[in-house]
Amino acid sequence: MDPIRIDVGPPGSDRYYPLALASGLAGALPQVLDDHGIGPRRLVISTPTVWRFVSPALPREVTATDPVLLPDGERSKTLASVARAYDALIRLGVDRGTTVVAIGGGVLGDTAGFAAATLLRGMPLVHVPTTLLAQVDSSVGGKVGVNHALGKNLIGAFHAPRLVVIDPGLLATLPRREFRSGLYEVVKYAAIASADLFGTLEHRLGDIFARDPAVLVPMIAACCRIKAGVVTRDEREQGERRILNFGHTAGHALEAITRYRRFLHGEAVGYGMLVASHVAVARRLFDEGAHDGLARLIAKMGPLPPVGDLSVADALEAMRRDKKVVHGRLHFVLPTRPGEVAIANDVGEDELAAALRKMGLR
Ligand SMILES: NC(=O)c1ccc[n+]([C@@H]2O[C@H](COP(=O)([O-])OP(=O)(O)OC[C@H]3O[C@@H](n4cnc5c(N)ncnc54)[C@H](O)[C@@H]3O)[C@@H](O)[C@H]2O)c1
Ligand SMILES: [Zn+2]
Repeated sequence: MDPIRIDVGPPGSDRYYPLALASGLAGALPQVLDDHGIGPRRLVISTPTVWRFVSPALPREVTATDPVLLPDGERSKTLASVARAYDALIRLGVDRGTTVVAIGGGVLGDTAGFAAATLLRGMPLVHVPTTLLAQVDSSVGGKVGVNHALGKNLIGAFHAPRLVVIDPGLLATLPRREFRSGLYEVVKYAAIASADLFGTLEHRLGDIFARDPAVLVPMIAACCRIKAGVVTRDEREQGERRILNFGHTAGHALEAITRYRRFLHGEAVGYGMLVASHVAVARRLFDEGAHDGLARLIAKMGPLPPVGDLSVADALEAMRRDKKVVHGRLHFVLPTRPGEVAIANDVGEDELAAALRKMGLR
């Protein structure tokens, strides 16, 4: 079966690239790269864990040399890892015609992508995302970068890949908690843009958790189409792209006040969406029935880490420091109807405090 093709970026511009999506696609990776005009000099960057799980699904010809393996985990998303990538790539004799093939989750894609964006003033990049979060989110949109000791994602660039190859079959080995973390982002897409996708999540959760490609392929395609549409219309995050931050303002605050140790990113977003939903209900923007639907779906996906020991004041303080604050105003994405959101510029701390208390913070 032909892969699904999704276009990202303005057609004809140098920021344009396609996503190719099909179950089993990674098994034909060299051919897929050839078909998309990717040059023959290719270098794989991955992590030891990902490479162990994923390389059996890849044909040997994917890489002529051993892959460059960078350390795994959010704590390794640093300039030190980027420097390791530079060292390895330079030693292997890369030039501006060599394509970096980044095979891994969001951490690896962001790190290897930043190395590709900056080495030799930019090398061609292909993403092969191997987590659900990377397949629906981080590999789409052209953002790459690493963390600084003082904050997440502070160092970065826009570097459009030449191609993104998405194989939901690679998710078979993903730990269940990581899979769920990505699913909260899928809930986000459903909540901001697709009542249909919301229905799929409600009715097919068993098949989704069983990682049935018949459900995963259209589900991931729906998410990628939503993100591709939004980032194409708003490449530099001036306006519409902000809707992708639904659930992220409170979510980031929860991650920050627990020092990124308690929640996986998606889990914090799960809470964050509920906080936004409480605010919207209190403003009579969103009806209680719709809120209950969202809360039920999130609850059905499994238990979230506890928040009862966290303080409302600390969460508010973290939100004030969020980099989405522009000119002192917090842009807050609020649900209005299933599959629709609006951006509010005037959400006050009292409203946020009330919503956080409803979630059980003290
Ligand atoms: N660039 C963007 O636009 C963007 C958007 C959203 C998130 N992000 C970034 O993405 C990162 C999170 O990415 P993530 O959730 O993919 O986490 P991750 O990259 O840390 O991967 C999670 C874990 O899964 C393992 N893993 C990956 N693929 C596997 C597979 N197929 N089988 C078994 N194990 C596998 C990894 O080794 C890792 O331990 C964050 O750093 C975040 O900032 C970037
Ligand atoms: Zn996110």
